[in-house]
Amino acid sequence: MNNKYILELSNLSKNYTNEYNSKIEIINNLNFKLKQNTKVSIVGPSGSGKTTFLNIIGLLDSEFNGKFYYNNIDISLCPKNEINKIRGLSIGFIHQFFHLIPELTVIENVMLPLLINKNEKKSYEISEKLLLEFGLDERINYKPLKLSGGEQQRVAIARALVNNPDLILADEMTGNLDEDTANNIFKFFINYIEQNKKTLVYVTHNKTYSLLADEIYYFKNKNIHLTNE
Ligand SMILES: Nc1ncnc2c1ncn2[C@@H]1O[C@H](COP(=O)(O)OP(=O)(O)O)[C@@H](O)[C@H]1O
Ligand SMILES: [Mg+2]
Repeated sequence: MNNKYILELSNLSKNYTNEYNSKIEIINNLNFKLKQNTKVSIVGPSGSGKTTFLNIIGLLDSEFNGKFYYNNIDISLCPKNEINKIRGLSIGFIHQFFHLIPELTVIENVMLPLLINKNEKKSYEISEKLLLEFGLDERINYKPLKLSGGEQQRVAIARALVNNPDLILADEMTGNLDEDTANNIFKFFINYIEQNKKTLVYVTHNKTYSLLADEIYYFKNKNIHLTNE
């Protein structure tokens, strides 16, 4: 196994400013290294900072203090457009509420990340192949809202993976699905991640899912703590 770190964070701190203009510290002095081809789960109570942390490592939020190297690139020295480019090419995000674009069809949603540097025909072909693998070939021309929650999440997963990103981030991805659907989707998803040797960080409230990770972190007291159980 390749032990190269995909990202390294040291002394990370993050504050938000509240409506009374005072600073609230969400993350304090956090250190984290993520090896390629590993699965990491993050658990912890609501409001503890899990989404805030994922947004930082997913290059969606660059307002933080500390050192952040992503694939050996110093993010604090990186211009915003460059950061956006890195994110678009190498990170896939999956959210609890799918975040599909309702006006676009299933395949158009999945094609979106590809259109940045591929033509429409090629983007369509790649997306069609992935949707077939995801058992959604009969749904490609549907609008997302015509699909079940489980199918919508499969589309969102396909969109996150279509660019063949190195790093996948999933934020309570099954939190909005019934138990059976959640189990099916999660099993399918983890399988795909393992077979395609992706690096994964996922936030979950489900203990069974969290235990499938190589490393389990608990978010508490503005920091993450490695757990052994
Ligand atoms: N944009 C924001 N502005 C101010 N406070 C925020 C913002 N986003 C999140 N927070 C606060 O930061 C804390 C951590 O939020 P979050 O990272 O979403 O927690 P979790 O994902 O663990 O539920 C919460 O108290 C939340 O209210
Ligand atoms: Mg959250």
